[in-house]
Amino acid sequence: MAKIGLFFGSNTGKTRKVAKMIKKKYDDELVAAPLNVNRISAEDFMAYEYLIIGTPTLGEGELPGLSSDCDAESWEEFLPKLEDASFDGKTIAIYGLGDQVGYPDEFLDAMGELHEFFTERGAKVIGAWPTEGYEFEHSEAIGEDGKFVGLALDLDNQSGMTEERLNVWLSMIAGEFGLPA
Ligand SMILES: Cc1cc2nc3c(=O)[nH]c(=O)nc-3n(C[C@H](O)[C@H](O)[C@H](O)COP(=O)(O)O)c2cc1C
Repeated sequence: MAKIGLFFGSNTGKTRKVAKMIKKKYDDELVAAPLNVNRISAEDFMAYEYLIIGTPTLGEGELPGLSSDCDAESWEEFLPKLEDASFDGKTIAIYGLGDQVGYPDEFLDAMGELHEFFTERGAKVIGAWPTEGYEFEHSEAIGEDGKFVGLALDLDNQSGMTEERLNVWLSMIAGEFGLPA
């Protein structure tokens, strides 16, 4: 089994695309093939000590799922399966996709929801990311240190910056995850 689990939710495929970009950089012993959370069990998720997880923000600052008009189930339906799980000893890095121009008041809110859910259950969340380089009014994905709680991506308006942001972020979390720098 790979050391790091890679899981995402996605409606129109962009968050899946980023998961594939991440996977392409590492071999199978290190990072597992990316899986949509609507295709896995809680056990599949809990099998990993190290996790990279991704989400878009949909609806009005919501996690993807049926109530934000996704075509299929997603994080909204998967998280309740982890309601009583403990993430003590687990390390998670989160990346989020949003649209700062279309949704400046709810930019990347769902990434904040994932952060809250997993930290409340004991996870150590790493990979905080600076807010410089983005223009928005409000985000629930900003932590106490004033940074985003994970990698902030905007493929709707800044797709050309995705690869570089990803590379910088992966090198930031490399030490904790035992990834090659
Ligand atoms: C109906 C709809 C609602 C959205 N709501 C938000 C939002 O509240 N905040 C935000 O940052 N982005 C929002 N977005 C932008 C998406 O997060 C962005 O397009 C993302 O890349 C989609 O990822 P996916 O292709 O993996 O589903 C919304 C997009 C759509 C279509």
